[in-house]
Amino acid sequence: MKIAIIGTGYVGLVTGTCLADTGNEVTCIDVDESKIEKLSQGKVPLYEPGLAEMVVRNASTGRLHFTTRLEDAVRAAAVVYLAVGTPVADDGTADLTALRQVIDRIAPCLAQHAVVAIKSTVPVGTQAEVTERLRQKTGRACDVASNPEFLKEGSALHDFLFPDRIVVGVRRPEVADMLRRLYAPFLRTDRPFLVMSPESAEMTKYVASALLSTRISFINEMANLCEQLDADINEVRRGIGHDQRIGCAFLFPGIGYGGSSLPGDMRALAALAGRLGQAADLITAVDAVNARQKLVLFHKLNDHFQGELQGKTVAVWGIAFKPRTDDIRDAPALTLIDRLLAGGARVHVHDPVAMPNVREIYGEQLLYGNHPMDVLVGVNALVIATEWSEFRNPDFAEMRRRMAAPVIVDGRNLFDLVTMSTEGFTYYSIGRRTVRPSAGDGA
Ligand SMILES: NC(=O)c1ccc[n+]([C@@H]2O[C@H](COP(=O)([O-])OP(=O)(O)OC[C@H]3O[C@@H](n4cnc5c(N)ncnc54)[C@H](O)[C@@H]3O)[C@@H](O)[C@H]2O)c1
Repeated sequence: MKIAIIGTGYVGLVTGTCLADTGNEVTCIDVDESKIEKLSQGKVPLYEPGLAEMVVRNASTGRLHFTTRLEDAVRAAAVVYLAVGTPVADDGTADLTALRQVIDRIAPCLAQHAVVAIKSTVPVGTQAEVTERLRQKTGRACDVASNPEFLKEGSALHDFLFPDRIVVGVRRPEVADMLRRLYAPFLRTDRPFLVMSPESAEMTKYVASALLSTRISFINEMANLCEQLDADINEVRRGIGHDQRIGCAFLFPGIGYGGSSLPGDMRALAALAGRLGQAADLITAVDAVNARQKLVLFHKLNDHFQGELQGKTVAVWGIAFKPRTDDIRDAPALTLIDRLLAGGARVHVHDPVAMPNVREIYGEQLLYGNHPMDVLVGVNALVIATEWSEFRNPDFAEMRRRMAAPVIVDGRNLFDLVTMSTEGFTYYSIGRRTVRPSAGDGA
C-alpha cells in the first residue's frame, strides 16, 4: 500500500518506518528541511533505540522516502497519516494550526478513495472538523479516521510493532477494514483492533493519558507520605501492586511525569471539561501534585544545603524525561536545573543521548560531561533525574573520590539503602528514609 506520513517526528517517523518494514511504500514528509535532509542521508535526527537501523534498512530497499514536498506522495497515497505536533498552551488549548495547514495543502491532491488517518493527539471533535474542512476544500465527502497513538518514547518501535491494542474511530466500516488490513502484521498475536466512533477514539487517548498520570501522581503523593511516616514506598508499592485489581505497572515513585504527551494531554482534558462547564477536580489535582513533585529534588537539595545554594556545585545524571530517549520536552530535570541556577549553584550535567538538546537550551551555563564520572569532580552533590541503565551499577568508590562530598539525591530510587550507607553516602531518595554513611565519615 502507498502511504504518506505528514510530520516526521517521534510518532511520524516510527509509524512510517514500521509500515515500510511490513512491505508498504512510505513517504515521510516534514516542513523541517534540515530534518528531511538528514533523514535522506540516513541520519536519524532523534534518538529511539533500534530506529536508525530500521530507517536505513528500509530506505535502502526503496520502501521509505523522505521529502518536504507533499503533493506527489499524497496524490499516490491510499492512506495519509497526520502526525504533526499539536502543542498545548497553558490554558489547555491544543494548537491545531499545523494540522489545519496540512489539511488545506493535501485537499487538492487527495485521491478519490484515500483515507486520512489522524495520529496526532487532538481534541474530541477534531475528526469531525477535519472531515468538514476537507469536504469544503474538495467538494466531496472524504474518509477521515481517528487513529490515536499510544507508543512510549524509549520503546516506541516495540510498542508500534507489538501494540497492546489499536484503536480506530471511523464513520464507515469499510475504512476500518482498510486500516485493519494495513495493521494486520502487527496484530498476529491476537491483539485487539478496536473500532469505535471517532469521538470515542479521540477521547480514549486522553482517558488513557489521564489514568496513567493519575497513577504517577498517586504513587508520588503516597511516597511523600511514606517518607514522613518512616514507611518505605518500595515495600508499599509491592504490597499493593500484587493485588490484581491494582497491578504493578506504572506505580514507580519518581520526580513527576514529563514529555510531550502526559502533561499536555492533562491540560487539554481539563480545558475540555472547563469548556463543557464540568468539574475536572481529579485531573486538576493530578496535575498540581505533578507540578509539586517536579520540585521534590530541588527541595531535598536545598534542605541539605540549609538554603545556601550559592557557590555549591551539583551534578545531574539524566536530563531526558525518561530513559532511552533524547526528548527533554517538559522534563522534570529542567525544572531542577532552572531552580539551581536561579539559586546561584553551578550545574554539571550528563545524559547518554540528550545532551545536544540540553545544550540548545542552556548553552554555556552548564558544564557538560560525556561520561557520568566526568561531571562528578568537586561536586557537593549528585542528583539522579533519569533512570538510565548505565547509572544502576556505578563505581561508588571512584564516585566518592571525585566528589567533594558523598551526597546523592536519587529521584529514581536506583540504589539499595543499606548499600548506600555502607558505601559511605548520604543518600536521599523518594518515599524512603534518608540514610547516612554507616562509618560516620560522610558529608
Ligand atoms: N511523542 C510521543 O510520545 C507521542 C505519543 C503519542 C501521541 N503523540 C502525539 O503525536 C503528535 C506528534 O508528536 P511527536 O512527538 O511526533 O511530535 P514532534 O514534534 O516530534 O514531530 C512533529 C513534526 O511535525 C512537523 N510539522 C509541523 N508542521 C508541519 C507541517 N505543516 N507539515 C509537515 N510537517 C510539519 C514538525 O517539523 C515535526 O518534525 C502530537 O500530537 C503528539 O501529542 C506523541
